[in-house]
Amino acid sequence: MTAHRGPGERFGPAADFEAELRVTGYETVADGVVALTLRDPGGRDLPVWSPGAHIDLSPRPGFERQYSLCGDPADRTAWRIAVLREPEGRGGSLLVHDELVAGARVRVRGPRNNFALAEAPGYLFIAGGIGVTPILPMVAAAEAAGASWRLVYGGRRRASMAFHAELAGYGDKVVIWPQDEAGLLPLDDELGEPRADTLVYCCGPEPLLAEVERRCGSWPEGALHVERFTARPVTEPVRAEGFEVVCERSGLTLDVAPGRSILHTAEDAGIMVLSSCQEGTCGTCETEVIEGEPDHRDSVLSESERAAGDVMMICVSRSRTPRLVLDL
Ligand code: FES
Repeated sequence: MTAHRGPGERFGPAADFEAELRVTGYETVADGVVALTLRDPGGRDLPVWSPGAHIDLSPRPGFERQYSLCGDPADRTAWRIAVLREPEGRGGSLLVHDELVAGARVRVRGPRNNFALAEAPGYLFIAGGIGVTPILPMVAAAEAAGASWRLVYGGRRRASMAFHAELAGYGDKVVIWPQDEAGLLPLDDELGEPRADTLVYCCGPEPLLAEVERRCGSWPEGALHVERFTARPVTEPVRAEGFEVVCERSGLTLDVAPGRSILHTAEDAGIMVLSSCQEGTCGTCETEVIEGEPDHRDSVLSESERAAGDVMMICVSRSRTPRLVLDL
């Protein structure tokens, strides 16, 4: 089973901090991976964040991507992110690599945390490739808390694995597992025996997440926490036809047509809704459900959060019932 937030933890109000920050550091930390340091140009402190948080980075107007913060949460003067150059991607990583060199300015929003580290006696961290970024501050926090923890970190080649030298300082708590030397991550060994005192945190490419989710099916409810930066594959919506959305705060009733999202329908009606990824991965558009049953199609909510049905990501999720009443 999966879970994404600690007990009682909810997404905060729609992102509140938005600013133009200056790139003060641009460092190649592995083949194809750069780490950027971002600071307020006026020297002001940046908002507090916790391990697992991400920011929205907008290297160009209308173009936004999410990156995990991977620096030290205690350092309020700087944020650090690491970005893999993906020539086959949607272009965001190339903009970051080519244009956000030291001295450049970039619009950011956040931080937001869909992947918070819950308190536990023990942790198993599993990272694949650039998915190590949110895990870095997590292992530091687990170490500082005196928890028992272990990180298994896989990548294609050692030279492509960011921060492996930094992680080596933790000794045998960290297993570096380059695929060209050792093959695929030994997930059966790591996850074969469910452990009641251990939470599993995993970030990486979709095939790794899917394999970890499958193996954690026998682990206690809420043991597994995953972070996705690409949307998981979705099936057809439960309702092929449209549905009605009552926007309680705005006093508007909208018809959501098949093939049109609730988010875009609300925007068309003049309702201001914050959004970022528009593919169900970032949590920015989370909206409270007052009545009706959502058809969840996002990659953020856990099974238990989906079953509770009290919030939904309106950029991708739809309705199982002819009518939804939302806090919009
Ligand atoms: S805008 Fe990112 S989850 Fe909806």
